[in-house]
Amino acid sequence: MSSLDKDLELTKKYDKDYCLQVFAPLNVAFNKGKGVYLYDTDGRKYMDMIGGIAVNSLGHGNRELVRAVSNQAANLIHCSNYYYIPGRSELAYKLCRLSFADKVFFSNSGAEANEAAIKLARGYFYYKGQNRYEIITANMSFHGRTMGTIAATGQEKFRKAFAPNVPGFKYVDFNDIEQLEAAVSESTAAVMLELIQGESGVHPADRDYIRAVRKLCSEKGILLIIDEVQTGVGRTGRLFAYENYNVTPDIMTLAKGLGGGVPIGATLCTNKVAEGFKVGDHGSTFGGNPLAMAAGNCVIDQIMEKDILNNVGQVSGVIFDQLKALKDKYPVITSVRGMGLLIGIEFDGTVSSAGMKEALFSKGFLVSAIGKSTIRIAPPLIISKAEASKFCKALGDILKSQKKRPLQLSAAMGSESAEQEKQIKEEITKETGITISSTDDNEIE
Ligand SMILES: Cc1ncc(COP(=O)(O)O)c(C=O)c1O
Repeated sequence: MSSLDKDLELTKKYDKDYCLQVFAPLNVAFNKGKGVYLYDTDGRKYMDMIGGIAVNSLGHGNRELVRAVSNQAANLIHCSNYYYIPGRSELAYKLCRLSFADKVFFSNSGAEANEAAIKLARGYFYYKGQNRYEIITANMSFHGRTMGTIAATGQEKFRKAFAPNVPGFKYVDFNDIEQLEAAVSESTAAVMLELIQGESGVHPADRDYIRAVRKLCSEKGILLIIDEVQTGVGRTGRLFAYENYNVTPDIMTLAKGLGGGVPIGATLCTNKVAEGFKVGDHGSTFGGNPLAMAAGNCVIDQIMEKDILNNVGQVSGVIFDQLKALKDKYPVITSVRGMGLLIGIEFDGTVSSAGMKEALFSKGFLVSAIGKSTIRIAPPLIISKAEASKFCKALGDILKSQKKRPLQLSAAMGSESAEQEKQIKEEITKETGITISSTDDNEIE
């Protein structure tokens, strides 16, 4: 426990004074979690509908996970990859048995898992003696924050301040097979895609598109890298999202949900592609450490043994039904999309994502805001139907009250001056009691 655990104001002051200011947090700090609930420093309870951005797959305070991590910490936290690590061998075995893959490399985050994937794809062609290095990715994709993964990310805003960017990446529109075909060249090593673009608004790939991409890659000898950092480990109701598409990748990356909250990354590939790394070509001090491996093994065991995938399917059905009913009733909802328990809810110009996030927060529900008009939910995979219904009801209540008193920042907000924006925010707070702290385009991932 931190000595600041009960002092939000001092936490904020030290954050401002001593942390690099790259995040824009809500006015809250949590110090306890149980199941789908988080408790703030004043003891207020919130339903966590974003689950640490698709990380807390087993919810908070899961007894088995706490026990597995505590026991491992008591025995051995870290020893380095100079030695064999039983938990690492075991988790690699399980992931390979449960997927298309033959081999795994463990790291500590999604970005690192993707870095390894990019290097592996290039190494594969290097060792084959072919000069193929280019990676084609999708516009509006998100693959991480390192120099390699911002280059892979098809969004200029993540790259422009950090030029010169890593060369060898090309971007095409998501779900457009003709653009992809046209972009392929003799230098193309891999196509790298998310199956649901999470960070840019929860946009699922079309099934026909992914099948056509797989066919194109196979015909041209190009590797298909699927980034399942957000969609993997049960999030879509299958252990891996690619299973929904009836294709298999050559390389897949995992992170977030695999550790249930303990940092972890994994890059999985076939035996053929594994030729892209020789001894010494890649590594990580912390990757595959006993603590993270204990967490990963526990998460995979529970997902497979406790019918959690079935729960995801059932609860997802309930949420989609209720959200679609809300959409019929309140035309301000323009789209409900996603898969399993990764869902985006988009609003028209009269409801901003930041305003809705704050309104839900004031009622005790945590979601993320993406872009100006979409909120994303990615709750723990153990959420019950009753809990999910509570969230949908709260959303409905907000939409009902906003019909009478529009609580929002209109879409026109973007064109207001800073002073006008401040005034509008104050008026909203006066009228509704909801504090609007951020109108940022995106919650920081
Ligand atoms: C699809 C995808 N890839 C990669 C990443 C980067 O993961 P990390 O933040 O663990 O580096 C994210 C993070 O949100 C993601 O959603």
